[in-house]
Order: sequence, then C-alpha cells, then structure tokens
Amino acid sequence: MPLTTGSDILNAARAGGYGVGAFNTNDMEITQAILEAAESTRSPVLIALSEGALKYGGAILPKLVVELARDATVPVAIHLDHGSSYVSCVRALRLGFTSVMIDQSHEEEEVNVRETARVVEAAHAVGVSVEAEIGRLGGVEEHVVVAEEDAILTKPDEAERFMHASGADYLAVAIGTSHGANKGKGRPYVDIERIRAIAARIANPLVMHGASGVPSSLVRRLNEAGGDLADASGIHEDDVRAAVAEGIAKINTDTDLRLAFTARVREVLRDEPKQFDPRKILGPARDEMRAVVEERMRVFGSAGRA
Ligand code: 13P
Repeated sequence: MPLTTGSDILNAARAGGYGVGAFNTNDMEITQAILEAAESTRSPVLIALSEGALKYGGAILPKLVVELARDATVPVAIHLDHGSSYVSCVRALRLGFTSVMIDQSHEEEEVNVRETARVVEAAHAVGVSVEAEIGRLGGVEEHVVVAEEDAILTKPDEAERFMHASGADYLAVAIGTSHGANKGKGRPYVDIERIRAIAARIANPLVMHGASGVPSSLVRRLNEAGGDLADASGIHEDDVRAAVAEGIAKINTDTDLRLAFTARVREVLRDEPKQFDPRKILGPARDEMRAVVEERMRVFGSAGRA
C-alpha cells in the first residue's frame, strides 16, 4: 500500500491513547526486521533514517527502505531523524519520505522557529509532516554531545508558543531521557509530570527520543559472548507506558535494535566458529531484532491498531 504520512499515524495514536515506534534503520536486515514485526503484530510504524544512516547506506538505502515499505499491509511512514538543515529535509522529501524532523533545538528559539517554519512550508506543500524539537536531551545527539548538566528540559509555555509559531505537526520534548545505551544509574528518570503539562497546552502528538529499554538480558548475552558494555541502562517499560498515557505518541528506538543485533552476531560467531556464510550470521540477528521490535510494539500499545 502507499506510504502513510507521519501525521496520519501519530494523530490517530494520540487520539487513541497509544504510542507508535519510530525504529532506526541502516540496512536491509534492520528494515526487514522492523517491517516483519509490524506485520506480525498488525502495528503501524515509522522507519527512521538519520543523516548518518543515509551517509552510511548511500543512494540505495532510502530506495530500498521505501520499496520494502510500499509492500507492507500496515501503515508505514518513512521518517528523517534529526535533520540538521532545510537542505537535508528537502533532500528527504525528494527521496519520498513521508515525515521529516528538523532539529534546531541547539539554536535560540527565534532561529528554531524560523528554520522549522521554512521546513514546514516545503514539506506541507508536498503533503509531508514535520517533527521539531525544543529543549535538549542529554547524551549524544548524532554529532552533538550535550553534557548532562547542560540538558534543558522542555518548558510547557515555550512548547505552546513554539508550535503556534512554527506550524510543526509533532514535537520532540526533552523529559529526562537521552540517546544511547547508558541513560543513567538505577531507573533513569522520566519527567511524566512535564509531559502532562505540555500535553495540556498542545494537542499535537509528542515525541520521546532516547526511549530504548536496554534490556539487561540482551546486555548480559552481549557481554557473555565477548562484548564489553558496562553500566548499560534504559527506560523502564512502565515509564514508557505512563508517558504514552500522558500524550507521547511517537517513541524513538535505536539502541535496543543495535544491542539485539550485536548480541546475536557475537553468539553465532562464538558458537559456530566454522560459520562464514553471511546469511547464517545476519539472518539470526534479523530474527533477534524482529523479536525486540515486536515486544516494543506490544508495550507501546500499537500492536493490533493496523
Ligand atoms: P535510543 O538510543 O534510546 O534508542 O534513542 C534513539 C533515538 O531517540 C533516535 O532519535
């Protein structure tokens, strides 16, 4: 079926009180894992490509992702994750993406509004929806490393002002989460009250970045198979459910797929030293990622919504 816009998927999610995953891809196996999980759970989904993914995969990657997504029988949007400029977003429009993120959250509010509005004008002209961000997440945001102490959480009044001025369709909010496999000691903090306060002021779907659960079972397997990930920690699934109940509609997940991939590849290489067929190494990794995505879709509440 034709691709679906981000707004069509996410407005339904916010209205219906469930979340939809935006899973990052970099290659064929990850894309297949995401789409197979969406089909098996009957879940709408966003497939996200970052500028780094587009650089890594070259010209064929977006074509491959769009082609595979068109064969899906569930709603799929193709999304640009953390677009850094107007030019980057226009390129994604040309590639057939149905959702773009313009991330100018590191700029002054005035610049963020102006650049987001430019992208909104271009994207809306061709029926594509736009994600923007205000506030700052901790951790690594693509190339920008934001020190934890500099992380600025999204203010509800600023969110309302920003959405009116920019015309963006959905908003990434800084609520304590961060990208990567180390989100803080113990149970990382998610500012549920802040989500509620923002959602009370704007009806747009809200976006949670840095939402991976970093399952301890996967980290243990990865380490037992020769990896070395210390202090890994993620967002508790009850906190994800609470965030969705308050207005989070789009939930970004990348790290959990990376962990699943690496754990399984390491296990196969450890357990089958004579194996050198890439299909016998990457195939099991794809199955492992599919299982992780299926589980996330059940936690978010998107399973059965397509
Ligand atoms: P994780 O690192 O928690 O998977 O977050 C990914 C993300 O937010 C991509 O934009």
